Amino acid sequence: MSYTRTTSLLSLGMVLAMSALVWADADDDQLIVNDEIEMITEAAAPDHMENLDTLYSGWRFRSDETQAFQMDDFDNPAMVFVEKAEEVWNTAEGSEGKACASCHDAPDTMAGVRAVYPKWNEDAGEVRTLEMQVNNCREEQMGAEAWKYTGGDMANMLALISTVSRGLPMNVAIDGPVAETWEKGKEIYYTRFGQLELSCANCHEDSYGQMIRADHLSQGQINGFPTYRLKNTKLNTVHARFKGCVRDTRAHTFAPGSPEFVALELYVASRGNGLSVEGPSVRN
Ligand code: HEC
Ligand code: HEC
Repeated sequence: MSYTRTTSLLSLGMVLAMSALVWADADDDQLIVNDEIEMITEAAAPDHMENLDTLYSGWRFRSDETQAFQMDDFDNPAMVFVEKAEEVWNTAEGSEGKACASCHDAPDTMAGVRAVYPKWNEDAGEVRTLEMQVNNCREEQMGAEAWKYTGGDMANMLALISTVSRGLPMNVAIDGPVAETWEKGKEIYYTRFGQLELSCANCHEDSYGQMIRADHLSQGQINGFPTYRLKNTKLNTVHARFKGCVRDTRAHTFAPGSPEFVALELYVASRGNGLSVEGPSVRN
């Protein structure tokens, strides 16, 4: 047991030590989508952050080729999923015979929404992610079945809701009724998980800019979600990404939609306050 742990720690140490030779910070490229939407990909860290001065979007760590996909909607492979969601938006479903459009008109009525989630819902007395809110509308308002938390229908709808907020700075609240959840998320962020004994902060705060297994480590921001990954050629949601990162530390992971991941999402979102909503973004 301890032997395995020591060897994996050693091998990770070696990976990091070797890669330190090819340390490369965020690049200086500017992201303007469709020659029109100017994205804030670099911002002063919000006051609550103790160990970072400057925030960078994950886009700034990608290669020029990967970056290019996100600069024009005609080249962005995520946009076909946005179109699918537009259809769903207008399609009645469930026992009430309603579509999203029946109550919310056009998708652009959702402008600004992505930027402030997760957020407190007063009636329910809970912190809600956008996924939770969408499923609440499906179940309570439409009498339809909830979508799978990280499934395709959900990812598509989140991508549509994100597009109408693109460019706006992330601005989630961290005080008042959400403060306790936020603290819990922060604690998880700094907890060392798994055989490798690595926390989110070890990689995304202490080591961003380094190369890890040929991948350029970013700050692990979520302003670009959902994200189309060239690796799996589909849209990926925030909790699916968290799950993958925790698994990489060889730890048992929390379930998508669990209170732990909701808290972690609130905290990670707040670490990006000031960066533009970019979703759907393109990453490798
Ligand atoms: C029968 C009416 C109705 C339908 C149909 C409906 N919603 Fe809603 N939706 C609401 C109401 C009412 C709220 C405010 C709920 C609250 O604050 O608890 C809301 C809130 C939301 C919000 C949060 C907005 C904000 O400013 O925080 C989102 C996102 C949303 N709905 C998405 C959807 C989507 C996507 C669909 C279709 C899958 C849908 N809704 C279907 C009534 C509806
Ligand atoms: C062993 C190092 C490591 C740890 C620990 C780790 N990650 Fe990651 N993470 C990566 C790598 C590598 C990538 C892909 C390159 C990148 O975007 O940084 C990544 C990507 C991400 C992304 C996508 C960023 C984007 O712009 O699309 C998010 C979000 C993220 N991680 C969050 C987390 C969270 C939250 C934790 C803690 C639960 C965590 N990571 C733990 C290595 C790690």
